[in-house]
Amino acid sequence: MSATIIDGKAIAAATQLEIKARVSALATRGIHPGLAVILIGDNPASHVYVSNKVKSCGAVGMHSVLEQYPVDLTEAELLTRIDALNNDPAIHGILVQLPLPKYIDEHAVLEAISPEKDVDGFHLINAGALMTGQPRLRACTPYGVMKMLEHSHIPLRGAHAVIVGASNIVGKPMAMMLLQAGATVTLCNSKTRDLSHHTRQADIVIAAVGRAKMITGDMIRAGATVIDVGINRDEHGKLCGDVDFDSVAQVAGAISPVPGGVGPMTITMLLMNTLEAAEKL
Ligand code: GUN
Repeated sequence: MSATIIDGKAIAAATQLEIKARVSALATRGIHPGLAVILIGDNPASHVYVSNKVKSCGAVGMHSVLEQYPVDLTEAELLTRIDALNNDPAIHGILVQLPLPKYIDEHAVLEAISPEKDVDGFHLINAGALMTGQPRLRACTPYGVMKMLEHSHIPLRGAHAVIVGASNIVGKPMAMMLLQAGATVTLCNSKTRDLSHHTRQADIVIAAVGRAKMITGDMIRAGATVIDVGINRDEHGKLCGDVDFDSVAQVAGAISPVPGGVGPMTITMLLMNTLEAAEKL
């Protein structure tokens, strides 16, 4: 293996120390950042994600509340709860865990969250602010990837970044953040012809497709940086990313692993967003 490992766990720990210090500084002004997490139904993966988010708040000295509702909560009841949290001065960030039950209109729910408390960065106002180069609250996963690139001193100005996966949550905001940092961005999707033609030209590859190990060593230029956003299970049920780590690590200059890469950064940037929302008061 020749690639340097981009250790998301270590970068997350360093970033959380910074967050903790800023939380303490806010306390001297009488402000205690608070995050509300809403979970509906009994999706086991969502339960794990949500309890990690709440636990992490405690680790940096933030206040958090977890509101759990049965799967038959109506959309009107959910919107009423969001309205109450929008008006609660102890809460600076609101996160409604996705996916929602099918009968609830996800778009309506995300737009009901006050943009100032939208710590997921999913609200149209926040997506538009990012798009027009005046970011406010940013989507956590791409924001975390930017921190990883920054900590690893990967040059972005003039670099060619190829993003594989064009979701609203990762690929699209990732493209905007890299563009704003001066990179030349290629955003690939599931219909892209000859994907490896694109990835082989990249200085930086961001894999966010949700398909186990689909980015292989022959798709990567020697020395490139590869960031793996995927969380999948391989044929043996073991956690793995979108990148075939073993073959890519032979050619890449730097690579983020799964687990221990982007995952810890996503939660950390949720804390950062909650802090930033509280600091703006
Ligand atoms: N479900 C999976 N990832 C996310 C996320 O980043 N935010 C929310 N709200 N739900 C999710």
